Amino acid sequence: MSQIQSAQSNLSEIQAQALKKFKEAASSKALYELKVEYLGKSGKLTEVMKEMASLPKEEKPLFGKIVNEVKVALEKAYEVRESELKAKELSEKLAAEEIDLTLPGVERFRGAEHPVSKVIHEISSIMARLGYSLRLGPLIEKDYYNFEALNIPADHPARDMQDTFFVDKAHVLRTHTSPIQIHSLETEKPPLRIMGVGAVFRCDSDISHLPHFHQIEGMCVDRKVSMADLKGTISFFVKEYFGSQLKTRFRPSFFPFTEPSAEVDCTCPICLGKGCSMCKQSGWIEIGGCGLINPRVLEHAGVKYPEWQGFAFGFGIERMAIIKYGVDDIRLFPENDTRFLRQFES
Ligand code: PHE
Repeated sequence: MSQIQSAQSNLSEIQAQALKKFKEAASSKALYELKVEYLGKSGKLTEVMKEMASLPKEEKPLFGKIVNEVKVALEKAYEVRESELKAKELSEKLAAEEIDLTLPGVERFRGAEHPVSKVIHEISSIMARLGYSLRLGPLIEKDYYNFEALNIPADHPARDMQDTFFVDKAHVLRTHTSPIQIHSLETEKPPLRIMGVGAVFRCDSDISHLPHFHQIEGMCVDRKVSMADLKGTISFFVKEYFGSQLKTRFRPSFFPFTEPSAEVDCTCPICLGKGCSMCKQSGWIEIGGCGLINPRVLEHAGVKYPEWQGFAFGFGIERMAIIKYGVDDIRLFPENDTRFLRQFES
């Protein structure tokens, strides 16, 4: 057998062997290793090529042609098998990663409006229907706005009604939202219908008192304003907020900035007047204070009386939430325990 014939049979054996192995390759990785083994730089085909050096010159082209044919055939077979394996691997991967869309998702607590904010929004939207709009004010107040301008002069016993946190001699953490009335009277022109709202501070803490709580208070200043207007406004509010069957009553009281003044009670929304632990068996529950704005307060703020007259009323927001939702400890509000807050999700 001539040298070229033996090389030829050697090559066809390599080709048959490679084609068989390509077919049997189980993965594209295994196939690639076979490609290196046969077609790589130090692969079997390259080995055979080396024989070319020892061939007579005239046989070289034929030999080259044969080797090249084998190379092309193997490369082609590699590509075909590679695309088969890649397709198979892709579909296996997709099957393994398939998402079951019918499985329920992981439930997440998205958070909800805090009950204090909820009460503020509910009350202010009821009062908006009567023309009241919201006003804020500073948390640190001049003594003047928190007391003096509200007809509570220094050394007046009424200062003891509220246990005050003093910042310095002339400033306090506001003890009520009533200073907002003064800011409004000083900067806005009557007629006025405003709701002052926000945090207030008193040195007090037990099951029904917090040192940091919230109030909302209404003020109406107009040409002719009477107790009847005040009673009508609060009765409307109580029916809208707690329920249409609820009644409102006024008990005489005292605030330096209103005259006459009253404490506001409404039918206990929990027992509807029958008597329960929330209303201490009385059937009535106290919701706030009110009165006609003391003319001294109006004049002090530069609003002419009796040309302009007014009424004001104030509610504790946590107290409203306690009554509306039957909460038994006011300290739950600032704790922000999600087990408590979740109950107010709407
Ligand atoms: N500011 C009073 C308080 O905090 C409540 C109040 C407001 C009373 C408006 C009358 C009018 O006790």
